[in-house]
Amino acid sequence: MDFVYKNPNEPIEARVRDLLSCMTLKEKIGQMTQIERTVATPSSLIDLSIGSILSGGGSAPFENAMSSDWADMVDGFQKSALESRLGIPLIYGIDAVHGNNNVYGATIFPHNIGLGATRDADLARRIGAATALEVKASGVHYTFAPCVAVSKDPRWGRCFESYSEDTEIVRKMTSFVSGLQGHPPEGHKHGYPFVAGRENVVACAKHFVGDGGTYKGVNEGDTVLSYEELEKIHMTPYLDCISQGVSTIMASYSSWNGHKLHGDHFLLTEILKEKLGFKGFVISDYEGIDQLCDPHGSDYRHCVSSAINAGIDMVMVGVRFEQFIEDLTSLVESGEVPISRIDDAVERILRVKFVAGLFEFPLSDSSLLDIVGCELHRDLAREAVRKSLVLLKNGKDCSKPFLPLDMNAKRILVTGTHVDNLGYQCGGWTKTGRGGSGRITIGTTILDAIKATVGVETEVVYKPYPSKDTIENNRISFAIVAVGEVPYSETSGDNSVLRIPVDGAEIISSVADKIPTLVILISGRPLVLEPWLLEKTEAVVAAWLPGTEGQGITDVIYGSHNFKGQLPRTWFRGVEHLDHQPNDGVSSSEPLFPLGFGLRYN
Ligand code: GLC
Repeated sequence: MDFVYKNPNEPIEARVRDLLSCMTLKEKIGQMTQIERTVATPSSLIDLSIGSILSGGGSAPFENAMSSDWADMVDGFQKSALESRLGIPLIYGIDAVHGNNNVYGATIFPHNIGLGATRDADLARRIGAATALEVKASGVHYTFAPCVAVSKDPRWGRCFESYSEDTEIVRKMTSFVSGLQGHPPEGHKHGYPFVAGRENVVACAKHFVGDGGTYKGVNEGDTVLSYEELEKIHMTPYLDCISQGVSTIMASYSSWNGHKLHGDHFLLTEILKEKLGFKGFVISDYEGIDQLCDPHGSDYRHCVSSAINAGIDMVMVGVRFEQFIEDLTSLVESGEVPISRIDDAVERILRVKFVAGLFEFPLSDSSLLDIVGCELHRDLAREAVRKSLVLLKNGKDCSKPFLPLDMNAKRILVTGTHVDNLGYQCGGWTKTGRGGSGRITIGTTILDAIKATVGVETEVVYKPYPSKDTIENNRISFAIVAVGEVPYSETSGDNSVLRIPVDGAEIISSVADKIPTLVILISGRPLVLEPWLLEKTEAVVAAWLPGTEGQGITDVIYGSHNFKGQLPRTWFRGVEHLDHQPNDGVSSSEPLFPLGFGLRYN
């Protein structure tokens, strides 16, 4: 007998019901389990019907693996999954948050803070579409993106993953979902997941809810707000994602008024699923349910019970999946977790898998491989870099702008820790979770871009750290100094001083004392700009974390394109001002540069 669920012509909801009716408890719980690549084995996939595998940041088949290597790996896991009793395909997830950033040679786009500076929803959508293609080329079906955090405090280590401190700007940039998944047609049922076709991926709006509103920006901290404020400031972008058919939503590690999101039935079920009508699946963060235990982690079974009953559908268990499966099985058998909760979770997971076409097209499509890092995508990334740059200062007096630079200047000094470092340019979540340094992938550094732009007569003097006599050399027309933050992610990025790292400030000071200087700041957030820096330098550009296409910067500083970027967040004067922010994050003290600030060429 041919099963309804195997028939692509049957309505998706009929296929979901049919398949669910065939599944054992073991298979249902297997589908709710997402394991890390490193512990995935054919037997676990076949015998336990594991529903999903992820690559945590940097968990590649091997160092500098290309898309084809990734596709071979994912297909290998998939073939095992298809050998399970019911042949339910697995869904493979990855953090492709600014391009397919785990994969060597992929196009790396500006991080979200830079995209927020563009205010360009169509650009975000186009980047989402390009990212989806490069993710599918690697055989991966699912990306944990976009992060739609409304980051209220730049001390947060994930500030760069947030489009803005302003809810309306974040809402606008959620168009990234339609890029990744495709845009649902008129009449698409509200709340239901949508994936247009084989060139699209399953998206994940994260981290629900209030991850960007924690006290003092402490990562995984506590967001203290009334429900009305939480809804207005941090929840509204999820409405936009749901209206675009976002297929999954990830729970936040953070808490709301002292209550961990991963265990919050009111927010995860009563609000997200019932009030907002979300019909995709809710996934935990990595080992996020573990944080529901007491500090000693003694009662993992309690974590499982709290999280699943709160409304988590798929658990990003990580590596200890046997324990999870054992505990959840026991909880269902004892009635502590009702089978109706399990069936709701599995129904949502199966719905997303059917919508994503995984049953019809479970394996990778090698015809997409040529698109990885292709010129079209790199040009798109270059466009995004151009539009993300924010000009904070241009000339010591407005009548004599310093930019655009003279591309035929006789001799220029190009210096700074970030002027020839692709890893620094890309920031966190690139190749590894935290990011790296040097030529970590294929791309164009700022120095590469300058050399490709200037006239043949121009001598480019490059020194990562300029010596005194280089600076004293009076035949230098001007200096370009690129400095900023070294890559970080999550808690490793929490920072309460927010100063330009010491060598960066020293380089600026020593060069600007003698030579007309342009400062390019590579950072995931505003940093303290001391009065001396703004006085001594001729021009200052905030370039955020631009990714692999450094020529987007020279396109603008040499004048072939105008500046368009506007600050996506307030540029504070000093961190002491950050502590006087009311709950809604709008500081009363006079900022150095306000939200929306950005100079242009006349
Ligand atoms: C991380 C992050 C989350 C990411 C997940 C998988 O801890 O919080 O944003 O998607 O784990 O790497």
